[in-house]
Amino acid sequence: MSQSESPNETSRWTPEDWRSLPTTQQPRYPDADALARVNATLRGLPPLVTSWEIERLRAQIADAAVGKRFLLQGGDCAERFDECSADSIASRLKILLQMSLVLAHAGRRRVIRVGRFAGQYAKPRSADMEMRDGVELPSYRGDNVNAPEFDVVARTPDPERMVTGHARSSLTLNFIRSLVDGGFADLHHPEYWDLDFVKHAPRASEYQRMVESIGEGLRFMESLAGVQIEDLTRVDFFTSHEALLLEYESALTRQVPHRVGWWNLSTHLPWIGLRTADPGGGHVAFMRGIRNPVAVKVGPSMSPEQVLDLAETLDPDQEPGRLTFIHRFGRDKVESGLPPILEAVSKSGRTPLWVCDPMHGNTKTVRPTEGTLAGSAVKTRSFDDVLGELEASFEVHRTAGTHLGGVHFELTGENVTECVGGARGLTDADLGYAYRSQVDPRLNYEQALEMAMAIARRMREGSSD
Ligand code: PEP
Ligand code: CO
Repeated sequence: MSQSESPNETSRWTPEDWRSLPTTQQPRYPDADALARVNATLRGLPPLVTSWEIERLRAQIADAAVGKRFLLQGGDCAERFDECSADSIASRLKILLQMSLVLAHAGRRRVIRVGRFAGQYAKPRSADMEMRDGVELPSYRGDNVNAPEFDVVARTPDPERMVTGHARSSLTLNFIRSLVDGGFADLHHPEYWDLDFVKHAPRASEYQRMVESIGEGLRFMESLAGVQIEDLTRVDFFTSHEALLLEYESALTRQVPHRVGWWNLSTHLPWIGLRTADPGGGHVAFMRGIRNPVAVKVGPSMSPEQVLDLAETLDPDQEPGRLTFIHRFGRDKVESGLPPILEAVSKSGRTPLWVCDPMHGNTKTVRPTEGTLAGSAVKTRSFDDVLGELEASFEVHRTAGTHLGGVHFELTGENVTECVGGARGLTDADLGYAYRSQVDPRLNYEQALEMAMAIARRMREGSSD
């Protein structure tokens, strides 16, 4: 099925259309009245972002699609309400800033920073129910839905959580905007972003050398120009999350004065996850009518025809910057799975932004034989698989004549031990030291910075275009 109406012909579209379509991965709320009350509350609350910001991001994505910018998207698999704190938010900004500095320096391209934050509170799950010791309860679906503790109260979906999620997103964004406005992200002061443990990291000296050389370049350019380069004193952060919980997303989708159409004002860049990318399903029907740039995950379960169908439905007019495909095949599958999709999309004449998520196709379960998690099943990812998929992706795009314009990571600015490998050589036995994720394993600060440096080397070799 493909729908080829243009946005001007979709005046009949409403943010509620998804309700009459098959829509998977939605919680079952036991109390319909409570849900209706929350819905009305959300509709009355102010939006989290504005259509101007969304338009600015769309223009930048259009640049990235043709190689003029590079997109860095990263953050937690799932944010937690109780991690909405100054330290946690600041360290997430710091690692994204450091990585973007490394990427901009190497790639000689401006970097668009997009956080998986200020709203990444809902998770798709492979099973609706979880069984432990003969007791069956609904799966944890993210803090916007329920809580991870294994008891009936915690696991029962509670619509009030969406109101809390909106408030936490707004607190997160407020702090980010204040930090950025106050000069935290000023490229003249990269020392603001140093994390306590940065000096002990295996790649710390390489990073420090890079910062010094950028600083020298900056001062040189400014002494020539005789002014401060304004563009570098302020950088933007955009927000993104998986648009999974359609009750929440549709309540925050609004019309705005002096602009045509509907805007999802819960985030700048909503994306459709792999499990909800059915071209005939509710999520795609919802996303096709909003004016935001939209992203879709693409993986081994999708045929080139499905990808083309998604492109036609979500971007019938081929608007620059509208569509991003985030591919996540896994190290073992990317070389065989990605080329037919790139070929089909190129043949159709489309130039979406292609982004590689090297995390979600590389998750595996291990049973450490030593350490505090010995004997239990632990989800992890190996640094080498993640880097391997990224490197293979650059190569596949080069061969296909397409352009890899961005990367998508699950990472944290903290010193967690959830992924194995990297310069410090974390092993399965080390996973127990600081394993905190309730869902997917994240690169820690050192691994994330090391990853950026590895991509940077790849970009410097000049073979990314
Ligand atoms: C995610 O990004 O956290 C996720 C669930 O990804 P995917 O839809 O690609 O599996
Ligand atoms: Co994840």
